[in-house]
Amino acid sequence: MTKFVDDNFKKSTKRLIIRFYQESDFDSWKKCFTEMSPPKNYWDWKLSDKKLFSKSRFKQKLEIHKKERESDYIYYFALFEKKSGNLIGVSIIMDIIRGNFQTASLGVQLNNNFWGRGYGRESILALFNIAFKTLKLHRIESLINPENTLSIKMVENLGMRKEGISKNRIKRGNKWGDMIIYAYTVEDLADSVKLKKNGEHNFSGAKLFELINTPAKK
Ligand SMILES: CC(C)(COP(=O)(O)OP(=O)(O)OC[C@H]1O[C@@H](n2cnc3c(N)ncnc32)[C@H](O)[C@@H]1OP(=O)(O)O)[C@@H](O)C(=O)NCCC(=O)NCCS
Repeated sequence: MTKFVDDNFKKSTKRLIIRFYQESDFDSWKKCFTEMSPPKNYWDWKLSDKKLFSKSRFKQKLEIHKKERESDYIYYFALFEKKSGNLIGVSIIMDIIRGNFQTASLGVQLNNNFWGRGYGRESILALFNIAFKTLKLHRIESLINPENTLSIKMVENLGMRKEGISKNRIKRGNKWGDMIIYAYTVEDLADSVKLKKNGEHNFSGAKLFELINTPAKK
């Protein structure tokens, strides 16, 4: 089995710690989800009433996440900024399909006070590392709304391949809408290694491979 059940799993990147929530994170969780600027776009979190953030709700959430990990279906991560210790957002490896597929989707969402500092990119790179190396997945997809320009820019900068449009993939209100599929597979990593050996560094995947494999500085 390739799933990981260690509740204390932790990944360190240059500026972030990526790990599962612990009960002691309650105050950070409440702060992250209630102290932000007004929504900057449609995909941003909406401001929530502090009263909705109870210890019992947080505990329930953690139990759900643990069950999802144990079923090897969804891995939900909390993202902490190293320098401040603040919880700055969440990321997710979800909809894992094993068998002959070995595939999953990625997602990331940051408190908007932390946008524009490259943390989205840094957390996606960490997810790639976890997905390919720890979970031994073969294909990673990112499904993005065609109007979500910030997200599109982030995955294209990372060298993910645009594979096409998945028609009427998601229900938004009463309407079904399209999603763009971006992907990256183990073969892309292998190609990157070959290209790197041949001295061809301009393939974006090669850059991604290097970033995935570069150990984080403490
Ligand atoms: C999409 C989202 C995660 C992007 O987060 P982000 O951290 O702002 O995105 P990036 O990592 O791409 O960084 C953005 C900018 O910061 C810049 N940046 C600033 N300091 C940086 C640093 N030290 N290192 C790297 N980049 C840095 C980057 O160059 C980039 O600028 P550019 O867009 O002009 O190239 C965020 O906007 C969000 O949470 N949106 C709402 C939810 C959402 O849409 N999620 C995606 C669904 S898949």
